[in-house]
Amino acid sequence: MIWYPYEQMKTMKAPYEVVDAQGVWLDTREGRMIDSISSWWSVIHGYRHPVLTNAIMEQARRFSHVMLGGLTHEPVQKLSEKLAAWLPGDLDYCFFSDSGSVGVEVALKMALQYYVNRGELQRTKILSLTHAYHGDTFKTMEAGDDADYHFILDVYGGKRDVIHIPTEIAALEEAFVRYHAHVNCLIVEPLLQGAGGMRMYDISFLKRARELCDQYGILLIFDEVATGFGRTGNRFVADLVLPDIIVLGKALTGGYIGHAVTVARRNVYDGFYDDDAAHALMHGPTFMGNALACSAALASIHVFETERYMEKIARIAAVIKREMEGFADPRIREVRMMGGCVCIEVNEPETLAGYQEFARARGVFARPFLKYLYAMPPYIIGEEELLQILNTMKAWFWRR
Ligand SMILES: Cc1ncc(COP(=O)(O)O)c(C=O)c1O
Repeated sequence: MIWYPYEQMKTMKAPYEVVDAQGVWLDTREGRMIDSISSWWSVIHGYRHPVLTNAIMEQARRFSHVMLGGLTHEPVQKLSEKLAAWLPGDLDYCFFSDSGSVGVEVALKMALQYYVNRGELQRTKILSLTHAYHGDTFKTMEAGDDADYHFILDVYGGKRDVIHIPTEIAALEEAFVRYHAHVNCLIVEPLLQGAGGMRMYDISFLKRARELCDQYGILLIFDEVATGFGRTGNRFVADLVLPDIIVLGKALTGGYIGHAVTVARRNVYDGFYDDDAAHALMHGPTFMGNALACSAALASIHVFETERYMEKIARIAAVIKREMEGFADPRIREVRMMGGCVCIEVNEPETLAGYQEFARARGVFARPFLKYLYAMPPYIIGEEELLQILNTMKAWFWRR
């Protein structure tokens, strides 16, 4: 029996059963559908991409996995070299793990221990944004700010040591003044907050955050699990403002195998590099640096670079803007768009009830949540398929 995610098993509607998938298309027993959300924002090259599939098969012929404790291998070495060269600044030190949530856990643990290693034991607090989502493990739930995902923490009397701030510079400055002596990091989903409702905010907030982190000696963490690899229209938001630690997941492997990486700058790495064994980062997921995942990631980055994905994303953004700008309905609160993402926020969640089936009948797989109807298509999508998604979203409001 499969226990499905985020579902009341007693009342859930049966999921569509996928029998095959290629490009942007899912072949299901219930019909062919375009995957408008890239399997939770990860499958940027679409399904069954020959370069990624071959990379995984080639590696599987040699070995699929070896532990990184006491062993190493070429795919993980090449991927860490590639990431060090490809990511901005001195974001060079790659700690691999098996999912985005664990990658964020590693980043939070790194930030805490960075100060512990310096003897600053009072720095137990973290600053995080309102509406943040960083994963479903316990510390990432604490860093998150959405009762729909994290209400279970209330049993413990709520969260400890996390201060949430809105994406407003005045609130940011106030939090730094008030809490800085006890804070080890500020963690953000930069520019685009995904699961918290596809909320978008201005780069000026992140620039000010960088200045304040420098001024008060606090680490800045970018959780780019969702935003990385072009989703905001920037390769990484870290290209615009350099964090001390970045977390990548989802599209890291083109969505082909679960994997994540927490990449630190030299200043962070140096905080652990010591003759004292107790200053080591005591973490080690069994499947970190999995050889199949690293091979998929290398192939994914290769395709991203050689097939000019930033131009593809710019084209998607232009079509979204042309089609969705000014789209209005009394039931709609706001239409937001950024890079390869568009979101219609409605006033009442009931407005979206039945949308998934409506979309299926029009050849689109969608998964609206709460008050948010959104699309984050694979970057290989053609204009006709993109229009099919956007027209389906609009048709929902025209139908009655
Ligand atoms: C910003 C962000 N961080 C972390 C995660 C968690 O990643 P995973 O589901 O791979 O654990 C997600 C997942 O949606 C995310 O959007």
